[in-house]
Amino acid sequence: MAEDNVVVFENVSKIYQMGEVAIPALQGISLQIPTSRFSMVLGPSGSGKTTLLNMIGCLDQPTSGEINVCGEKVAEISDDNISEFRARHIGFIFQNFNLIPVLSALENVEYPLTLLGMKTAERRERSMKMLEAVGLAEHGRHRPNQLSGGQKQRVAIARALVKGPSLVLADEPTANLDSKTGAAIIDLMHRVQEQYGATFIFSTHDPQLISHAQDIFSIRDGELIEHRREGKCRP
Ligand SMILES: Nc1ncnc2c1ncn2[C@@H]1O[C@H](COP(=O)(O)OP(=O)(O)O)[C@@H](O)[C@H]1O
Ligand SMILES: [Mg+2]
Repeated sequence: MAEDNVVVFENVSKIYQMGEVAIPALQGISLQIPTSRFSMVLGPSGSGKTTLLNMIGCLDQPTSGEINVCGEKVAEISDDNISEFRARHIGFIFQNFNLIPVLSALENVEYPLTLLGMKTAERRERSMKMLEAVGLAEHGRHRPNQLSGGQKQRVAIARALVKGPSLVLADEPTANLDSKTGAAIIDLMHRVQEQYGATFIFSTHDPQLISHAQDIFSIRDGELIEHRREGKCRP
C-alpha cells in the first residue's frame, strides 16, 4: 500500500443475502483515500454509503476483494485484535450522535480513553482540551439532553478525536441537523481535521456539502462513479 493512502479498496464487493434474495450493496469498488485529507462519500439513500464506511471501519467484511486500512490488510487482522485495532486507530461519528445519556458531555468525551486504560487526571485534561477545541468548554457538565443537536454532534467530534486516531469516520453526521448547523458541523470537522492531522471521511446524500470537501467519492447503486479531487483548503 502506498504510504499516502489510509484506505485502499481493491475490487471490493458486498452482497447481503436475505434468504433467497442477494442484495449487491457494493459492486467491485476500487479506491484510494488519501491520508490527512478531508474526504466525502456522496450518494443517494441506498447507494451503499453505510456499507462502505462499515467496511472501512472494520465493522463488517466484504464478500470479495481486498481492503487495506492504516497499512493493515483487514482480512488478516484476527477477530481478537480487530476491536483493539478499531479502538486505537479509528474514531466514529454517527448520524444519531450516540452519546451516552447518563454521562455528562465531558464524561462522554473521556469514555474512549477509559476503555484504553488511561489514568483519570490525564484523561480529564485531554478531554477538556478537546471540548475546548470544539467550542464547548462551558458545557462539560451538561448531559446530552441539555444540548442542541449541533452541540451533541460537537461532543461526538471531540469524543472521536480524543484518542488521537489516524482515521475518523462520520456516517451522515449532518442528517439530523438543519442545513445551516450541518454546514457549520462539517466546517468544524474540517478545522479539527487540519489541526489534529487525522484523516476524515464523512458520508452524505447532500450535494450542497461538496464545496466543503477536498476529495469527493460519488457512489450510485454500489458503484464508484467518480473520485474528484478538489484540493480545497478551508476558507
Ligand atoms: N444488513 C443488511 N441486510 C440486507 N440489505 C442491506 C443491509 N444493509 C444495507 N442493505 C442494502 O444494501 C444497499 C446499500 O445500503 P446502505 O449501505 O445502507 O446505503 P446508504 O447508507 O447509502 O443509504 C441497500 O439496498 C440496502 O437496502
Ligand atoms: Mg446510510
